[in-house]
Amino acid sequence: MLFGANWKMNGTPGEALSFLAEMKDRGSRETDADLVFFPPFTLLPLLAESGKEAGIELGGQDLFWMDRGAYTGEISPGMLMDAGAGWFIAGHSERRHVIGETDDVVRKKLEKGLESGLKGILCVGELVDQRERGLTEKVVRRQLESALDGLDIADASNLVVAYEPVWAIGTGLTATPDEAQRMHSLIREWVGEIGGGNVSPEELRILYGGSVKPGNAADILSKTQVNGALVGGASLRAESFSAIVTSIPAEG
Ligand code: 13P
Repeated sequence: MLFGANWKMNGTPGEALSFLAEMKDRGSRETDADLVFFPPFTLLPLLAESGKEAGIELGGQDLFWMDRGAYTGEISPGMLMDAGAGWFIAGHSERRHVIGETDDVVRKKLEKGLESGLKGILCVGELVDQRERGLTEKVVRRQLESALDGLDIADASNLVVAYEPVWAIGTGLTATPDEAQRMHSLIREWVGEIGGGNVSPEELRILYGGSVKPGNAADILSKTQVNGALVGGASLRAESFSAIVTSIPAEG
């Protein structure tokens, strides 16, 4: 299992350091699950040591597809690595729908990040009106095709997909565990068909994201197709993030 704490544009240095210290106190080193913390970029260097102590890896919430140059406001994979990150997120719904990133931009970011040796989480998911118009499958398949078709990944285990239905993010609404199971199973099948660079669908980790909380995590994580969660709001406090991590079903 893999759990990501995506803090989005939240958190002070003190809050992030306390989060890692508290996660450690709550046993983050002892879990078999992989844990990754995605704070704002500016906090990454400060957290490198505490992350190691807590057994929690660090990641950037985004990256750019060039190594250096005149790209005001952007951050390169090398800069992320220098800052202590081993992971990045590509195509988070807030970047797609608030900032306006296209499928093409997401593809370039994913490709560059993976090529650079970082591990990447590709986010996919439909908007509420797409869901209501019965377009969920079409939209998610298109997002996967655009990101993965012909992608050459040296180490396929570096790719993780997160299914985050946009209507479930920050709203308190979640896909039912059965809906998540169904979509994850389709995503696995499609990734097998699209066949991006050596990715083995059986081994691909697919996370669910969207209002995951301590109260609903166990039900979602009990589904065989769900390999972890990408958590926003409930990751801001170690108490709730750690409760989500420890709600893995016994055999998980
Ligand atoms: P919430 O858990 O706040 O719904 O956010 C989910 C998310 O966007 C994680 O990347």
